Amino acid sequence: MSDRIESRLKEDRRFQPSREFSAHARVGSHAEYAELYRQSIEEPEQFWRAQTQDLVFRTPPKTFVEWKLPNAKFFLGATLNLTESCLDRHLVTQHRTRAAIVWEGEPGDVRTLTYFELHREVVRLAAALTDLGVIAGDRIAIYMGMVPEAAIAMLACARIGATHSVVFGGFSAEALRDRINDSGAKVLLTQDGAWRRGSVVPLKKMADDAVAQTKTIEKVVVYRRMGSERTPVEMREGRDVWWDDLLGRHPSEKALALAKSPPAFDAEHPLFILYTSGSTGKPKGVLHTTAGYLAGAHVTTKFVFDLKDGDLYWCTADIGWVTGHSYIVYGPLSCGASCMMYEGAPNFPDPGRFWKVIERHGVTILYTAPTAIRAFIRWGDDWVNKADLSSLRLLGSVGEPINPEAWTWYHKVVGKDRCPIVDTWWQTETGSIMLTTLPGAAYSKPGSTGLPLFGVDIAVVRDEGQDCAANEGGKLVIRRPWPSMARTLWNDDERYLKSYWDVMPNVYFTGDGARKDEDGYFWVVGRIDDVLNVAGHRIGTAEIESALASHPSVAEAAAVGKPDDLKGQALVVFVTLKQGQAATKELKGKLTEHIDKEIGKFARPDQIRFTDALPKTRSGKIMRRLLKEVASGALETKGDTSTLEDLGVLAKLRADEE
Ligand code: WTA
Repeated sequence: MSDRIESRLKEDRRFQPSREFSAHARVGSHAEYAELYRQSIEEPEQFWRAQTQDLVFRTPPKTFVEWKLPNAKFFLGATLNLTESCLDRHLVTQHRTRAAIVWEGEPGDVRTLTYFELHREVVRLAAALTDLGVIAGDRIAIYMGMVPEAAIAMLACARIGATHSVVFGGFSAEALRDRINDSGAKVLLTQDGAWRRGSVVPLKKMADDAVAQTKTIEKVVVYRRMGSERTPVEMREGRDVWWDDLLGRHPSEKALALAKSPPAFDAEHPLFILYTSGSTGKPKGVLHTTAGYLAGAHVTTKFVFDLKDGDLYWCTADIGWVTGHSYIVYGPLSCGASCMMYEGAPNFPDPGRFWKVIERHGVTILYTAPTAIRAFIRWGDDWVNKADLSSLRLLGSVGEPINPEAWTWYHKVVGKDRCPIVDTWWQTETGSIMLTTLPGAAYSKPGSTGLPLFGVDIAVVRDEGQDCAANEGGKLVIRRPWPSMARTLWNDDERYLKSYWDVMPNVYFTGDGARKDEDGYFWVVGRIDDVLNVAGHRIGTAEIESALASHPSVAEAAAVGKPDDLKGQALVVFVTLKQGQAATKELKGKLTEHIDKEIGKFARPDQIRFTDALPKTRSGKIMRRLLKEVASGALETKGDTSTLEDLGVLAKLRADEE
């Protein structure tokens, strides 16, 4: 039996950016892209120097890279205060009075912060944190909702060299506690409560529960989003302090000093820790440092989102994920962009909310996730069609493979066949986008995540490390270090080495399976651990799921294997239907025929289970590990479920036996 991953689904459609789009794009042709890519690989130092000219260094770098497996250092010898690139440099240009953040709260309230205002808020908080005794190198936990203050908090930490660890506001008290304990955070920044689907998430209350079981937190700073009438909170004397009280009414002397002459830090100074779920066991504290991370976020934002004066750019991710770090905060602000930020749920008060936000503010670039796109498909086109989306000019996707069906829906119904789509592949560990099609430079193929970005030496290889042939499935690896790569896992160099560098000699293993087609386009077929083995064929989860989702009744699907005495592995698929579709036996028959046709009879599911919802991580990824357990009839879950969005979904799946 071959150990190669097969690929059955072929997608031949190509979508070319319009001439008009390419004419105005930063990179307007494939030839230009290819030349920049060549330079980035052959003369990396020149490439990065030219492309980071806008960034502010206090002392310029002496050496571009130093690489001793597994530790890489970039821009050695440089010193900088990263926030000068994101804030100060804009204060001496027209950007000073331009919106840095246009924020809409879930109830509909709107706030705009110009670059001047954002800078002022950042230095005030930064000064206040030093008053609390925070010094460079201290860890600060941030447990907040989607309010501008969350971005202000991150930047304030960076201003004084404190290392932030943002914990997504949807996490439980236990998850927060574990992350605080692992990072040893000294101060926690939180808020009284956050809006979510019309109700209040009591963040401060959960923070209290978490802090009660930690030893390192000395101060808790509370931002007032709700007000005491709506969300009374208990303030613990000596430990808790209101954000407003801490800042005082006027910028302090210290704030004025920090505004004028911020301290400079080494290029490799730790900027942030961000916990990402390992497939089992405790979360990994991915560590990013300063100059390399900033360079990666800056250069990719500039090229991938093709930012222009007048753009209003909206990344819908939560600030608690890496996408929020790189593409709401550091990347866009370092480019001087105006960023839309929305507090609440996409379906509050109704499933038309995103489209109303776009219409109301005139959003031009939308960057969202396949899981959201599939939810919109399920809710129906009318919600989208009701809004005026003529301001949009570019769309993006991130987080999971986007199935061609969802891709074409996004292109047609949201983009009105007018907006290019950038499908961006990357990871918390990579820090910035690694694969995509630059919007004016290359055609897209629905479902393919495109070509390598600058400096990214990425390949699909067999187990022994040789390159796969075109279209042959294998492991996705990166063969040389890149500036925004994670430097280690917090307090766990060994796990870092084992997780990413020990799998294959001298290369970074992404954990993903992929193939590269005859045009050099990459197709991610799913996590290697999830690859299915059906009747001797090895196939990625994305193939089966895409095939199912291309049936007109299906909104979303997840495929997993279950141990089978005869076949080794039986195929179980979980299917969510579009609204108005009935879950009948007849439909099961039709879906089976559909798989026969799209993939082959060997891939006929042994079991099709209809469900209202799939278990997902809080960032929207399907948790196949849990579905495997459900499929094999386990009554209880083994591993960690702290990243699961809704525990009820699991119970329901178990109860919904055929
Ligand atoms: C998956 C999110 C296919 C992939 C930025 C990766 C994708 C993991 C894509 C990282 C994409 C992300 N196409 N798969 N465009 N983007 N993934 O750390 O499996 O939350 O390894 O970073 O998501 O997820 P993370």
